[in-house]
Amino acid sequence: MGYRVVVAGATGNVGREMLNILAEREFPVDEIAALASRKSLGTEISFGDKTVKTRDLDTFDFTGWDIALFAVGSEATKIYAPKAAAAGCIVIDNSSLYRYDSQVPLIVPEVNADQIFMYKNKNIIANPNCSTAQMVVALKPLHDRARIKRVVVATYQSVSGAGKEGIDELWDQTKGLYVPGQEVAPKKFQKQIAFNVIPQIDVFMDSGETKEEWKMVAETKKILDPAIKVTATCVRVPVFVGHSEAINIEFEEPLDWEEAQDILREAPGVLLVDKREPGGYVTPIECVGEYATYVSRVRQDSTIENGLSLWCVSDNLRKGAALNAVQIAEVLGNRVLKKG
Ligand SMILES: NC(=O)c1ccc[n+]([C@@H]2O[C@H](COP(=O)([O-])OP(=O)(O)OC[C@H]3O[C@@H](n4cnc5c(N)ncnc54)[C@H](OP(=O)(O)O)[C@@H]3O)[C@@H](O)[C@H]2O)c1
Repeated sequence: MGYRVVVAGATGNVGREMLNILAEREFPVDEIAALASRKSLGTEISFGDKTVKTRDLDTFDFTGWDIALFAVGSEATKIYAPKAAAAGCIVIDNSSLYRYDSQVPLIVPEVNADQIFMYKNKNIIANPNCSTAQMVVALKPLHDRARIKRVVVATYQSVSGAGKEGIDELWDQTKGLYVPGQEVAPKKFQKQIAFNVIPQIDVFMDSGETKEEWKMVAETKKILDPAIKVTATCVRVPVFVGHSEAINIEFEEPLDWEEAQDILREAPGVLLVDKREPGGYVTPIECVGEYATYVSRVRQDSTIENGLSLWCVSDNLRKGAALNAVQIAEVLGNRVLKKG
């Protein structure tokens, strides 16, 4: 016996990946419902070797469905997630709406799967921001060994992190630059993204940080350890899929780069590719469609007492969103619902 599973936002980047990953990982699905807005009604979406037609989220009755994976953005989540939860369906949400709610667990299974039982408070579990998810997977095993005091991170985030419109804008702008008269003005992003980088993701806050930077700080504390200090600079780059991060870490205890490599080699969810030779590291294009959080360029930072620097890359639509959500569903199935 398996589960009756809903995917809300099934026509989007994350929703499509959630359906792919449910099928790839053979999640025990008895019945699937693919939901989107009314304008997408009847759109055919792949689910393994089958296709399913999308239904309207607005009129869908969640009664009798076990798990709903949501990837519809905060506004729609605010309306529909409480409806699903009230109908007894457990929501795993990709938006930022519930991430900072102390009643809602924010889960990265490799890091804090034990907090899954908090789902009972609201029947809702939150999935972190894409940049946070991959970073905490890499940090957790190092924190367990040498206690992290402070993290300085700069991100290089792909346009798919901004949804379908982000992908379209990079594609159209790149083509338009080669055809006189067909230049595409920035719409989704604040400035031209083709052949450029933009040091702004999400809105500015009073502190001068962007909301994306603030999210990395708040979410790392909630998932990994409130004592860890984090400062982030989040940058959009003209890459379709795959987020990269340059991470500098200060530890309480000494940690040699070779021992850090050994720890990362064994760590759940991490794949160490660190050859210290030309090309002996991972770039975003190589992580597309993969599950792992790749770590490369592990090296000592000799400017502080116990410091390391490293490079971290992952598929933002997978570990950063859809894969993590499906892994949460797996933990829920194995530890709580126990039907499969
Ligand atoms: N992309 C990432 O790397 C990433 C990572 C972590 C979290 N997230 C989060 O995941 C969510 C989805 O992101 P995405 O990249 O998949 O966006 P997207 O490609 O733009 O897709 C949005 C999806 O939501 C549906 N939707 C939007 N408003 C709706 C409404 N009022 N009623 C019903 N359906 C509605 C859309 O349906 P239609 O096609 O019918 O409009 C579409 O299926 C967002 O909350 C985002 O912040 C994304």
